[in-house]
Amino acid sequence: MIPRYLVNFNTDKLKREKSDFLVIGTGIAGLVTSLNLAKSGRVTLLSKERLAECNTEYAQGGIAAVIAQEDTPQAHYQDTLEAGAGLCNPKAVDILVIEGSKRIKELIDLGVNFDQKDEKISLTKEGAHSCRRILHAGGDATGREIRKSLVEQVSSETNITLKDGIFVIDLLTKDKEVFGVLAYDRKQEEYLIYLSKVVVLATGGAGQLYHATTNPQVATGDGIALAYRAGAKVTDLEFVQFHPTTLELEGVDNFLISEAVRGEGGVLRNQSGDRFMVKYHSLAELAPRDIVARAIYQEMKESRRNHVYLDVTALDLTFIKRRFPTIYKTCLKHGIDISQNYIPIAPAAHYLMGGILSNIHGETNIKGLFVCGETACIGIHGANRLASNSLLDGLVFGKRVADKAVTYLDQGDLNTEFSLKYDAQRLKDAEIIPSKEKIKGLMSAKLGIVREKAELEEGLAEIEGLLDCLNYDLADVKGFELQNLITLAYLTFKGALYREESRGAHYRKDFPVAETAWEKHIILQKDREWEELAIEFE
Ligand code: SIN
Repeated sequence: MIPRYLVNFNTDKLKREKSDFLVIGTGIAGLVTSLNLAKSGRVTLLSKERLAECNTEYAQGGIAAVIAQEDTPQAHYQDTLEAGAGLCNPKAVDILVIEGSKRIKELIDLGVNFDQKDEKISLTKEGAHSCRRILHAGGDATGREIRKSLVEQVSSETNITLKDGIFVIDLLTKDKEVFGVLAYDRKQEEYLIYLSKVVVLATGGAGQLYHATTNPQVATGDGIALAYRAGAKVTDLEFVQFHPTTLELEGVDNFLISEAVRGEGGVLRNQSGDRFMVKYHSLAELAPRDIVARAIYQEMKESRRNHVYLDVTALDLTFIKRRFPTIYKTCLKHGIDISQNYIPIAPAAHYLMGGILSNIHGETNIKGLFVCGETACIGIHGANRLASNSLLDGLVFGKRVADKAVTYLDQGDLNTEFSLKYDAQRLKDAEIIPSKEKIKGLMSAKLGIVREKAELEEGLAEIEGLLDCLNYDLADVKGFELQNLITLAYLTFKGALYREESRGAHYRKDFPVAETAWEKHIILQKDREWEELAIEFE
């Protein structure tokens, strides 16, 4: 049983801060939302770590948008739906592709310098895109460049108060309406309350569920877990995207090798040096990510090695250095000159297609609680996200969330007359708390690229055995993150076990085909018995 809160508190004793809008998370979605909200009121923007620690910072390949003369929103729409394997929300995708190009122009006006060729924006191709439509910046540093421009704007905006080192623990709600959050200030070492009629969760994903991930340490699924504790509906969590190509070296974190590398001509080779993707899909290396990741998994299994190879040796060194400076330098640092040698690569957990269920304005089933970016599930990505649609998602839906959220300013009064207390159990025996490595081990072994009933059941049973640790006040951020990861693992096992078919990133060895009857979403909500439709379908 998942508790409502993680820590002991008494709101009468806590400092309170009030604002018109509260935004949590400083990736592209949180920054864009804050900038747009600041036109209408005072925004408090919270980050749990230093500002740069977010998935946006590490996004290499680019941002997809209809810019080229020969491209159309219809083509981008179609590609997104096909990659999503029958589970995209067509209305949300329509919005993404139509509004995407407008939002990109605004980014350019803000000062983002997308790479150019012959005085035109240079566009690359990535997996499952029917034409070249990926904008990039700094070669392979697109996320960093976009974030830098947005942060400059946010820092000069007087209506935004930016605070780092604030860990949001739980939502404060009354009658299914949010009025603030309970947080921990890491610098002041104190708990406090932020009050607002509008709370926007843009807290990113949960790659830290796995040993091998492209995500930074901060990606612990906090927003999804805390929203679930407060009664928000979460959905599609069984769809975890594994990026096909990350650097696989003993003792080195799985560094992302952008899909754009394959877009520019990189090919995948097995241990025998054969270009194997041609036998798996007509688009070969540029097939949808789930297909490429599974093909690599299969080749690794057959060869009993923990990697295959990405070969860019046919590309010119000057081109490699200009187009992929970060990848070139990082591989060189680890002794691999990619212009001369194959890169050992393996898939790693990269992106959550699922998240907190919301409508096309980012509204959830809790009034005043908005979501955007990877934390949200608006239905854009279906069962498998199309490459470079994630930054676009944050950009487009961050703005839409702000447009809707400002209309809440005139609705009702902020609840300031409350007195809430909660008693979590005091921890006496630290040994009952599992390590983060244990959760990662379970997820990596039993909920990876290929799944099956027996392993999912074992994994779920093990995680259920750990749920009791959510009842203890662990009194530090690492502890709260662990509790959030356990919650996410539990929900992901449930979704993956329940979905008895294979679709997109969810592949079941025991149910290897997609079933029409399963063209629906699994929705989970706390305190509703599993057997009595804790899951429902839309
Ligand atoms: C990449 O550069 O391959 C990652 C971009 C994405 O996840 O879409």
